[in-house]
Amino acid sequence: MAIRKIVELGDDALRQVCRKQEKFDLRLWILLKDMADTMYRADGVGLAAPQVGILRRVAVIDVGEGLVELINPEIIDREGEQCGREGCLSVPGRQGIVTRPRKVTVRAQDRKGRPIELTAEGFFARAVCHELDHLDGVVYVDKMDRELTPEEIEGHVPEDDYE
Ligand code: NI
Repeated sequence: MAIRKIVELGDDALRQVCRKQEKFDLRLWILLKDMADTMYRADGVGLAAPQVGILRRVAVIDVGEGLVELINPEIIDREGEQCGREGCLSVPGRQGIVTRPRKVTVRAQDRKGRPIELTAEGFFARAVCHELDHLDGVVYVDKMDRELTPEEIEGHVPEDDYE
């Protein structure tokens, strides 16, 4: 297990358009393992490669339904809207309200380069959109409707369940 250092807002790595992952080799598999370990250790639900300083289109997500690895992901369909709380391991101590699609369909590749397609709804869809944004140098604070106060971060925010 190798825990990688998560870069924080202000680091250039978070502001780059990442390159396509071309090789599906041991080096990628080590990156995926390290990213998952780093995400779980930090108690996160998603992590994108640029957050550990690797400018490739690779992300991992686990919203409690198991680990999902996305290589070169693209959103090919989106439906509806949801408005809710979001945070980021690269922006510690802050949260905001962000509007996202309620449902997205994603086309990507798995760790062996095979094409995959998945549909995500609710919080999973939110996580997918958040991580894919990272691959284009976009951080949620760029598009939040508003930032939560420290009291709101601790407590319940009514917007949470809006759809
Ligand atoms: Ni993030």
